[in-house]
Amino acid sequence: MSVSAIIAAAGSGERFGAGFPKALIQLGDRTLLEHAVACLAPIADQIIISAPAGFEAQISELVGEGVDVVTGGATRSASVRNALAITTGDYVLVHDAARALATSDLAQRIVAALKNGESAVIPAIAVIDTVKVINADGYVASTPDRRSLVSVQTPQGFTTSALRQAHAAHADATDDAALIENGGGRVKVIEGEARALKITTQADLHTALAFLGFNSTYRTGVGIDAHAFGIGRALWLAGLHWPDEIGVDGHSDGDVAAHAMCDAILAATQLGDLGSNFGVDRPEYAGASGVQLLEETLLKITEAGYFISNVTVQVIGNRPKIGKRRAEAVSILSQALGGADVSLSATTTDGMGLTGEGKGIGAIASALVFKQ
Ligand code: CTP
Ligand code: MG
Repeated sequence: MSVSAIIAAAGSGERFGAGFPKALIQLGDRTLLEHAVACLAPIADQIIISAPAGFEAQISELVGEGVDVVTGGATRSASVRNALAITTGDYVLVHDAARALATSDLAQRIVAALKNGESAVIPAIAVIDTVKVINADGYVASTPDRRSLVSVQTPQGFTTSALRQAHAAHADATDDAALIENGGGRVKVIEGEARALKITTQADLHTALAFLGFNSTYRTGVGIDAHAFGIGRALWLAGLHWPDEIGVDGHSDGDVAAHAMCDAILAATQLGDLGSNFGVDRPEYAGASGVQLLEETLLKITEAGYFISNVTVQVIGNRPKIGKRRAEAVSILSQALGGADVSLSATTTDGMGLTGEGKGIGAIASALVFKQ
């Protein structure tokens, strides 16, 4: 009897807020999606990823050959259905990319229960909080007995025929078992895992890192950069092109915000600085973009076993005004750092100094990193 696995990875990760799909967030040495694939690979004969529209090729390249990629839908249920259409196994496991740290042992126990004759099997853990049912007007309607409540997880396992039937009406639910229940089917509950938590927010990512054995030996670093305005140069700042502004001189694109961030990260990780890693003696970096240098910096610190907790950067100068494009800049800078928590601010210096006199732009950054 063969086993297929569907990984629902088509969500946008709104609550995480990285500006790109949550499945591509870095957790330790790989993305959430790669963790999910690694969980299922030892058990499944076929793996199908339901990917966000527009990310299919990138995801195919990331997970390599032998994994099918389909385009997801507008809801999780629709994403699962799109993968179900090409499912070949007798059994099917449906897993959330967001539950990156579920173990192969859990997937194995789900399959074992299916082979034992169950047609729907889900992992669950006891709820810790008292749970209340509330009315629309904000008052408590009832308090169910906590002993009868569980929080459910993925992977959830089904006979493929039962799951196809449950999805036939194209209904939506937040998990697949609910569709089986709605059709009157029996759903077996087995013991889940604390580490199969759903990564929804930045805080969850830190919890997940703790499961991977990352301790809290944090290190900080600071970085400063400044460039004088240069006639005829385009302005690149905080990963963005600023069309109507005067650019700055420099070996690279002169993005002082990205450069200060690189310096802060390299300082925190004791890997030197921008000059020693990408300086004028490295012609391959001439004209490199700030985003490219951030990506290269991330590679270097990842190789050295470090991970970013957060990076802040403050731009110092009279122009340009950052505010209107802050969200756009943060998204690009964060993406260059694998989804790291980035914040961006700006200040003037009351007409004093190089930047206040309007001679150039500066930036100061600080980074917090940690090691496994
Ligand atoms: N998912 C999906 N297709 C959708 C919506 C969600 O495949 N249209 C997937 C997500 O990628 C995730 C899982 O379903 O792996 C659980 O969803 P959730 O944790 O809510 O992820 P997101 O929807 O991406 O996050 P948010 O709700 O914060 O936007
Ligand atoms: Mg969602």
